Amino acid sequence: MSDARKIDWSALRKDFPILDQQVHGKPLIYFDNAATSQKPRTVIDALVHYYERDNANVHRGIHELSNRSTAAYEAARERAARFINAKSAEEIVFTRGTTEAINLVAASWGAKNLKPGDVILLTEMEHHSNLVPWQMLAHRAGATIAYLPVTGDEGLLDLSRLDSLLTPRVKIFSMVHISNSLGTLNPVAELCARARKRGIVTLVDGAQSAGHLPVDVQAIGCDFFAFSGHKICGPTGIGILWGRQEMLNAMPPYQGGGEMILSVEYQKTEFKPAPHRFEAGTPDISGPIGLHAAMDYLDAVGRENIWKHDQELAGYACEKLAALKNIRIFGPKQNRAGLVSFLLKDIHAHDVVTLADQAGVALRGGHHCTQPLMHKLGVESTARASFYFYNTKAEVDRFVEVIREIQKFFGQ
Ligand SMILES: Cc1ncc(COP(=O)(O)O)c(C=O)c1O
Repeated sequence: MSDARKIDWSALRKDFPILDQQVHGKPLIYFDNAATSQKPRTVIDALVHYYERDNANVHRGIHELSNRSTAAYEAARERAARFINAKSAEEIVFTRGTTEAINLVAASWGAKNLKPGDVILLTEMEHHSNLVPWQMLAHRAGATIAYLPVTGDEGLLDLSRLDSLLTPRVKIFSMVHISNSLGTLNPVAELCARARKRGIVTLVDGAQSAGHLPVDVQAIGCDFFAFSGHKICGPTGIGILWGRQEMLNAMPPYQGGGEMILSVEYQKTEFKPAPHRFEAGTPDISGPIGLHAAMDYLDAVGRENIWKHDQELAGYACEKLAALKNIRIFGPKQNRAGLVSFLLKDIHAHDVVTLADQAGVALRGGHHCTQPLMHKLGVESTARASFYFYNTKAEVDRFVEVIREIQKFFGQ
């Protein structure tokens, strides 16, 4: 792998056609990567090639195009297994994204394993995707939800509370790897180890981590890991649920239909083993193919390099923002992932984002699908700048200048 310091990060920008444009007459600065990342040419080309040359349904035909399509679809599964160091491709289920992956576990594992009185443990910094499906399950099963607290603006998990929360009634502990609102990198291996010792199943929401640092699900020691293709340079509409094979094979199907059966009679069906039992109907075929190209691209850059670059940009942005007056910055001071959430005194986050957009800077403003966390922090919304490896320090400089101009516009 190449050395992070020797990579010409701005040269990589040429691989992303979308970055080379003006917005409102200003060069685009795309700082909304936590919402979705941009796509390199290789991913766009893989999608075009698939539709121009290979398009056919998978696992059905025995003609040439169907064989090619099936081979490419299954090769993407193998690639995803290597991307997160899964033991085998059978542990990789294609989903629409992180949200569907977590819904699948909540609906399938949850329906089979959760009883009235059981507890689901989450953290206070979860994205709605890792909260609402568990609330729906809790209501159905008569279970309750407990939360590992967040310390405050600093955005760390209060680990001193963990032991008292890991009671015998807890059946699953589902946690975010990197918070999309705070930039916190949670010690998921430690959290999973402590849960596992008590026989508690664990799920890690890797939506913000999978494309930003090396992920090894075996080293993390979780039972399930979920992530989305579109946040790691891949297409929208495709994501991965990884689960330990024995867990997946013990779970009932999530949806029924074609492709997921061994045999069907009028009154009963025998299901395929995982992962196919969880992929009913014609799947998104181009999605995994595009995602395959994205994973190749990211690993050629090196996720350890991306992580260093993310941290450097976030540290630099925090330092420069902290020098402004009337600003509140959320998230950890050390070891922050590549994003910064902040609030300007007396200026609504939506106004910040609207004015930044006029200057060509794409930010995100709102609750970032973490409404309970916002309420805990006593705010309705924040503005967020989120970076990826194709962003540069020069862009951060311009972004901070724009924030200062916004403050001046409001007479500060
Ligand atoms: C931490 C986290 N979890 C889950 C999700 C949901 O991802 P998706 O909308 O791709 O399913 C997101 C998306 O922003 C996220 O940041």
